[in-house]
Amino acid sequence: MRPITKHILAAGVAAAALMGTHAASAQEVIKFAHVVAPNTPKGQGADFFKKRAEEILGDKVEIEIYPNSQLFDDSKVLAAILRGDVQFGAPSLAKFGKWTKKLQVYDLPFLFKDMDAVACFQDGEKGQELLKSMSSKGLTGVGYWHNGLKQLSANKPLKAPADAEGLKFRIQSSDVIAAQFEAVNAVPQKMAFSETYSALQTGVVDGQENTWSNIYSKKFFEVQDYITESNHGLLDYMVVTSTKWWDGLDPEIRDGLAQAMKEASAYANGLSADLTAEQRQAVIDSGETEILQLTDTEFAQWQTAVKPVWAEFSGDIGQDIIDAAAACN
Ligand code: LMR
Repeated sequence: MRPITKHILAAGVAAAALMGTHAASAQEVIKFAHVVAPNTPKGQGADFFKKRAEEILGDKVEIEIYPNSQLFDDSKVLAAILRGDVQFGAPSLAKFGKWTKKLQVYDLPFLFKDMDAVACFQDGEKGQELLKSMSSKGLTGVGYWHNGLKQLSANKPLKAPADAEGLKFRIQSSDVIAAQFEAVNAVPQKMAFSETYSALQTGVVDGQENTWSNIYSKKFFEVQDYITESNHGLLDYMVVTSTKWWDGLDPEIRDGLAQAMKEASAYANGLSADLTAEQRQAVIDSGETEILQLTDTEFAQWQTAVKPVWAEFSGDIGQDIIDAAAACN
């Protein structure tokens, strides 16, 4: 090859490389993966985040939302964030056990009497500190999103705790939730959200616990004869990202994303109560399942049966955190 040709080629390669770099820095492609359907508080929050981030930052960013476990399920998404395969995830607070024990507070049964108490704790000092509880692992929490309180469902009526004895329940990957079911002599089985419907349908498990929104949007009510309106625990989310990626962003992009996230959090949290009420009613209207209410005595029996779980996990979580949460009721 003649030297002149070599130089032209080298210049072409350098220019292409430069353009490639330039193109990459001109538009940040940002992936957000989650496991629920778009018509849920988290699904709507993620879609709102995309809309606002693209409005604020124009073509500097492209936000891609992957719902329904299309990209990663919750057992993989945090490692994927650290690898840079995805930039945002919002696993439920029950799914962080491998990364921090402190977030287990959110799974303690009957800790919050309603969603106002949840908001009080999340907005308070301890709740905000928990957003940073995985900083040593390279993960930053950028906000809390509500789903709601959990209900129990099964193929037999669950009124007293003894009714759950021996039944298999699909649970999220949380040791606290496992202990909660063991406390009533039931058999918890940790399982991905995406596998739950078929496990209920085929009888691999007898029951599950989840929010009205998840029970409705994933059609669990079609394969469960009874739902007990127990409101016995919380299913909320932490939106997380990689600290290294976040800190390394162009400041203009980071500020725009932070603004969009703040607005999306307010939007999702404002929406969750209405969506819960609407989807609860849709489950009732379907006539496919019977909704059971607990008497005050039955409610107290469940509380008493699972209360020892608090002491079992207080060392891992920190009594100060539990006290701050309980004080919000
Ligand atoms: C579940 O696994 O039941 C939930 O965490 C799913 C979700 O993201 O709401």
